[in-house]
Amino acid sequence: MVKETVETTSHLIRNIGTLVVVPPGPLTGRRMREFDLLRDAALLIRDGRIAWFGPAQEAPLDEGVATLSAEGGCVIPGLIDCHTHIPFAGERCAEFIRRLGGASYLEILQAGGGIHATCRAVRNATIDELVAENLPRLQRMLALGVTRVECKSGYGLTPEHEFKQLEAIRELDRQQPISLDATYLGAHALPVEFADRPDEFIDLIASEDLLASIARQGLARFCDVFCDRGAFNVVQARHILQRAAAAGLRPRLHADELAQIGASKLAGELCALSADHLEHVTDTGLATLKAAGTIAVLLPGTSFFLGVPHCDARRMIDAGLPVALATDYNPGSCMIESLPWIMNIACCQLRLLPTEVLVACTANAAAALDVHKRVGAIEIGFDADLVVLDTPSLDAWFYTPGRPRVRTVIKAGRVAYRRPEHLK
Ligand code: NIG
Ligand code: FE
Repeated sequence: MVKETVETTSHLIRNIGTLVVVPPGPLTGRRMREFDLLRDAALLIRDGRIAWFGPAQEAPLDEGVATLSAEGGCVIPGLIDCHTHIPFAGERCAEFIRRLGGASYLEILQAGGGIHATCRAVRNATIDELVAENLPRLQRMLALGVTRVECKSGYGLTPEHEFKQLEAIRELDRQQPISLDATYLGAHALPVEFADRPDEFIDLIASEDLLASIARQGLARFCDVFCDRGAFNVVQARHILQRAAAAGLRPRLHADELAQIGASKLAGELCALSADHLEHVTDTGLATLKAAGTIAVLLPGTSFFLGVPHCDARRMIDAGLPVALATDYNPGSCMIESLPWIMNIACCQLRLLPTEVLVACTANAAAALDVHKRVGAIEIGFDADLVVLDTPSLDAWFYTPGRPRVRTVIKAGRVAYRRPEHLK
């Protein structure tokens, strides 16, 4: 199914075992875990939006309403993956095996592999090839309940190839139901040909003209920088993100992933929309993020995949930060495309509750993409992006990691995915 205009018909989802009434984000502290779980519910969709929800016996009967039975399953807002590195080309399986043998992510990057390897593959690919390689990824994500995905450039590392990646994102957005939000990540790594000339590279990828052109063409809404040891420092990241903000691209930041160099503090100072990773965050960093209202985007799939310690999610929730979770799906540090799998890691290893994890992948992920006033919650007037699970409760979903439990995915009021009979 490609994107289609919304039909002006009504749909009633009835026989909902539990409607998980996630409020609009951003949510913090107790509000991440305490909200209504409505048993025996129904939900009415009109013109692609949520028009009513409540106890099943009170459901309004619209003229000509089509009904869809949730068969006693749980209904949740569509999942939002607010940090991925789609679209990428090629694979780095050999690196994965080298890391199992003891090589570190940074060693591989500094030896010309890592991001540089994917950069070579992306530079060699056409837009059509990037689209063809990444479309199936999004199709599989839809079947897992994902209705919105953030996508980044960052593997082109020249203006021409960065634009190509952004254009591929635009085309991917057109070709399938998931909504895509694009981020410009021109400062993802210093390309080998600029190894001794970082300032020249930054002038090139953060020139006023280039940033203005990205914003004017609507090719991206955000600008990200990999601010870490072995990538860009705080001074460079500040310069790039200030220029981007002046051009109308909201800042976000890869912060405190490999080492503590003050990146989360910078994210707060710049009032970035999100600070992502945060494995090495300090109390000062957390306080600055909180004061700025920046969303903490945690990526535990990356620490799982790299075999390094996780971030401390409970500390962040207790500190009052709005916490989101995402896959970080990329060919190097996290080749995990399943957001439900990341949610299970967050539950079993970060010890978050199912309600907290769901908020982190809906309302708060929407806030990380600045779309929280119309998606990510069960709220009248919000887009009807919904997932029907085959478990009667949210807890029961988290109790069975790895088992596909998505029955139906509704995007803007239309059925975008239905689980095939043979998987039932
Ligand atoms: O978020 N840290 C920087 N970027 C990605 C990894 C990208 C890659 O290795 O290709 C990350 O982990
Ligand atoms: Fe990332």
